[in-house]
Amino acid sequence: MHHRSLQVAALLAWAAAVACRNVQPVFAPTLEARGDCDDAGDVNYTQLATKLSATAQIYLPGSDLFDDAVARWSNLSTPVANVVVVPSTEHDIVETVNFANQNSLPFLTTNGFHGSITTLGKMTHGIEIHMSQLNSISIATDGKTATIGGGVLSHNLTDTLWAAGKQTVTGTCECVSYLGPGLGGGHGWLQGRYGLVSDQFVSMNVVLANGSLITVDENSELFWAMKGAGHNFGIVTSMTSKIYDIQHPNYAMETLIFSGDQVEAVYEVANEQWLTNGKTMPVDLINWSYWYFDPTTDAEKPVIAMYLIQEGVNTVNTTYTQPFLDLGPLSNSSLSGTYRDLAAWTGISLDSTPCAKTGNANPRFPIYLKSYNTTAQGLVYDLFKQATTNASTPFSNALFMFEGYSQQGVKAINDDATAFAYRADNLLVAPLLTYTPNGPALDEVAYKLGNQIRQVLYEGSGETSLNTYVNYAYGDETARAWYGSEAWRQERLHALKEGFDPTGKFSFYAPIA
Ligand SMILES: Cc1cc2nc3c(=O)[nH]c(=O)nc-3n(C[C@H](O)[C@H](O)[C@H](O)COP(=O)(O)OP(=O)(O)OC[C@H]3O[C@@H](n4cnc5c(N)ncnc54)[C@H](O)[C@@H]3O)c2cc1C
Ligand SMILES: *[C@@H]1O[C@H](CO)[C@@H](O)[C@H](O)[C@H]1NC(C)=O
Ligand SMILES: *[C@@H]1O[C@H](CO)[C@@H](O)[C@H](O)[C@H]1NC(C)=O
Ligand SMILES: *[C@@H]1O[C@H](CO)[C@@H](O)[C@H](O)[C@H]1NC(C)=O
Ligand SMILES: *[C@@H]1O[C@H](CO)[C@@H](O)[C@H](O)[C@H]1NC(C)=O
Ligand SMILES: *[C@@H]1O[C@H](CO)[C@@H](O)[C@H](O)[C@H]1NC(C)=O
Ligand SMILES: *[C@@H]1O[C@H](CO)[C@@H](O)[C@H](O)[C@H]1NC(C)=O
Ligand SMILES: *[C@@H]1O[C@H](CO)[C@@H](O)[C@H](O)[C@H]1NC(C)=O
Ligand SMILES: *[C@@H]1O[C@H](CO)[C@@H](O)[C@H](O)[C@H]1NC(C)=O
Ligand SMILES: *[C@@H]1O[C@H](CO)[C@@H](O)[C@H](O)[C@H]1NC(C)=O
Repeated sequence: MHHRSLQVAALLAWAAAVACRNVQPVFAPTLEARGDCDDAGDVNYTQLATKLSATAQIYLPGSDLFDDAVARWSNLSTPVANVVVVPSTEHDIVETVNFANQNSLPFLTTNGFHGSITTLGKMTHGIEIHMSQLNSISIATDGKTATIGGGVLSHNLTDTLWAAGKQTVTGTCECVSYLGPGLGGGHGWLQGRYGLVSDQFVSMNVVLANGSLITVDENSELFWAMKGAGHNFGIVTSMTSKIYDIQHPNYAMETLIFSGDQVEAVYEVANEQWLTNGKTMPVDLINWSYWYFDPTTDAEKPVIAMYLIQEGVNTVNTTYTQPFLDLGPLSNSSLSGTYRDLAAWTGISLDSTPCAKTGNANPRFPIYLKSYNTTAQGLVYDLFKQATTNASTPFSNALFMFEGYSQQGVKAINDDATAFAYRADNLLVAPLLTYTPNGPALDEVAYKLGNQIRQVLYEGSGETSLNTYVNYAYGDETARAWYGSEAWRQERLHALKEGFDPTGKFSFYAPIA
């Protein structure tokens, strides 16, 4: 009791969390005393709890479970929730949406924790619907599709399919969900073979803004929109996607570290090999590069790390590596293994930093490009160098990402087939300006720097519209930049939004309008 009197608020919150559902049975005696869950604003969550299945959970503020569920990878303009509901059935989601609507509460689906677009900060209260319990995966008996729960993570799907000799396109990072990337298009290692994550979708169960549960497939007008702008239309409770026999289990990666002095030469070679004069990225090759400041390699400027990743081999073909080796890298190293090693090799596995919640702000300023403009590469290198290496910089841990996935599978599908608008582009480029938050003035410095860098790339591209990947977006790029600037795309999306979500309940993540 003494303890209780010292920390009344925290204990009440714990009690409420347990009373709602047996989240932590060990605390059960404490909670029984309270018996309701109405201390999160004026809403009585016990009434929601009685409608949910026995294994659903409700977390209230003040509990570790709540804190963990709402913590984000990027601590910048984050959504605020008063309560976290963890449904365990599709029907729980229907009940939660109905309850939110009856109480005029906003709601937001979360899955992994990597959604970072600053529009999420427009959610200032309401219900976070956390999908982690909808994590079933079942492979159809014909081995051609899998039915995947709406809360399955990329890594879990890959491992489950792998054990059955199967695979499909997922995001590359192990800690992102399957659907978070997928609903915005979804880039992954296998897109050169099969297309984007969303190109694998066969059908999905979706809870709409008004709580109706529908099945969306190729016969539904919404199907087109779910493949690129899906965050705007509903909560996907489960879905069926195409899967494939594993064709090329083994992979090799060559890492070439270049001095920043060679920035123009390196990207000239990339262009000549794969990106200009009618050439395309080979289907078996993925070509990424990162720029970052590593004072142990170069104390004065960021290095260029080039990753050449090839499927189906144990050593990357010298046809791919030699033109780069000829430039004289600072170092080179080779790795060989399987598809499942790729995330660790590129620093995005479950135990890599990008899968941790560090409290850092992590804004990106993405742009899609068709090829490298070596002049522009040199100019942005200088900006990045200045930003990462000066003595007083908050951005010494920034990472500049150049992702060159193979594209055959993506380009094999018509440009207008889905809401993903950027099949014609080849490179996903983005500075990631990691920093420790220190108030709005620093946020503004990051914002200006990120946009300055992106503007140089944009001017060098010769494009007439800014093409951005919605899932990497900063947040103020506009719907035209996220979903394509063609009028027909905007009109089609607006019409669907009007039909399926007229009051804009799904509008925290990169809203169409
Ligand atoms: C380290 C890192 C690696 C990444 N790698 C890739 C990659 O390889 N390929 C790629 O394409 N993208 C990648 N991304 C970007 C990624 O697509 C986005 O960050 C995405 O928002 C992550 O989704 P999430 O479910 O993990 O996060 P969350 O924040 O939980 O979800 C993001 C948004 O998705 C929506 N959402 C999630 N689940 C559902 C659902 N079941 N139904 C309806 N809406 C839902 C919600 O609007 C939510 O706000 C990466 C990002 C990071 C930080
Ligand atoms: C909340 O709802 C529950 C279930 O209907 C009810 O027993 C409880 O009295 C309500 N609490 C308040 C404060 O109204
Ligand atoms: C993913 O798999 C891990 C075990 O490897 C499990 O603990 C976790 O609950 C799974 N998550 C989801 C969302 O499936
Ligand atoms: C692709 O590889 C080439 C070297 O072969 C490199 O110059 C280029 O930068 C790479 N592209 C990306 C996106 O990393
Ligand atoms: C390397 O690639 C070239 C060109 O595609 C091809 O002719 C050669 O057989 C490949 N070498 C190996 C060892 O596979
Ligand atoms: C690659 O690295 C090895 C040592 O790991 C070195 O012997 C070789 O010369 C390097 N090749 C080039 C072209 O830099
Ligand atoms: C997020 O940043 C704010 C400052 O903007 C800081 O107060 C807070 O502690 C940070 N959150 C975490 C989890 O570090
Ligand atoms: C250091 O870098 C930051 C971020 O780009 C910039 O705001 C600042 O002016 C730089 N300082 C110097 C002395 O160059
Ligand atoms: C490359 O970028 C520079 C700088 O913006 C620009 O002047 C030039 O025209 C661009 N080159 C091409 C081929 O677009
Ligand atoms: C919910 O919205 C859908 C799409 O607009 C509509 O077809 C359906 O009739 C609505 N359901 C109810 C119960 O209003």
